Amino acid sequence: RRKIIIDTDPGQDDAVAILLALASPEEIDLLGITCVAGNVPLELTERNARTVCELAGRPDVKVFAGCDRPLNRPLVTAEHVHGKTGLDGIDLPAPRMALQPGHGVDFIIDTLRAEPAGCVTLVPIGPLTNIATAFLRAPDIVEKVQAVVLMGGAYFEVGNITPAAEFNIYVDPEAAQVVFNSGVELVVMPLDVTHKALTTRPRVEAFRKLPGAVGPAVAAWTDFFERFDKEKYGSEGAPLHDPCTIGWLLRPELFAGRRINVEIEIEGRYTLGMTVADWWGVSGRAPNALFIGDIDAEGFFALLTERLARL
Ligand code: BDR
Ligand code: CA
Repeated sequence: RRKIIIDTDPGQDDAVAILLALASPEEIDLLGITCVAGNVPLELTERNARTVCELAGRPDVKVFAGCDRPLNRPLVTAEHVHGKTGLDGIDLPAPRMALQPGHGVDFIIDTLRAEPAGCVTLVPIGPLTNIATAFLRAPDIVEKVQAVVLMGGAYFEVGNITPAAEFNIYVDPEAAQVVFNSGVELVVMPLDVTHKALTTRPRVEAFRKLPGAVGPAVAAWTDFFERFDKEKYGSEGAPLHDPCTIGWLLRPELFAGRRINVEIEIEGRYTLGMTVADWWGVSGRAPNALFIGDIDAEGFFALLTERLARL
């Protein structure tokens, strides 16, 4: 059973990632959720995380608020994709469970210090501000991390917030640079893989038909979230980015990638936040990440549907 901390900015796809983790208690022990500013400001992401836990019938999950802005840039948000609340698509009751006292970054540091080395995996699915802040403030925790399994970046699929950059990396490139250069065991789910995990009609209808409240809520979120991709790119559905991280933890054999060097562009005039991924090994720089490029999407959606049915 892998102990994880999800670091997140919900976000409909973040919400599905949290639900997939909560639906998989045999494999995953969710120690807590730390929230960060990203898709929408922090006040909304921490509220949305609590809403999602309550939807899953899990008001006991520890939810913390973390950093409310990137390390040294103004916050860029994505209401154009996720709506005003960050979780548009269905009206859910306001959460009643309390936010945990204390800062999300302190929770990350304290948890890693308290647990034996190699026992806690960090799963960042928003900008990397909280994780980088923890690494900068407490460098001793880096070698205690089992792995960082994150959603962010792109190679062949290039950008979704600028022509060159993916949103999570673009919002806080300096934070991404800290994490990518930290020496931690890193698994990256870039747009190259998430753009193959599309919410096609039959997949969404399978969610909608699930008994209970969770399946229909996930269908309503994807209905909202996919308008953006359908209108903009004419794709068959929305990429379900963030749940790929949890999918990899549960069934790594559904994914394929390469260990390569990935550097973060923090200066480029047009390329700020780009993940410079040395897929062909031409730089001579040492690999620092397992960069995933492929997914068995049918297998992944079958897993997701089967797990969501348990909630
Ligand atoms: C990432 O950006 C956010 O909008 C999504 O939640 C996902 O984490 C995709 O680029
Ligand atoms: Ca996200």
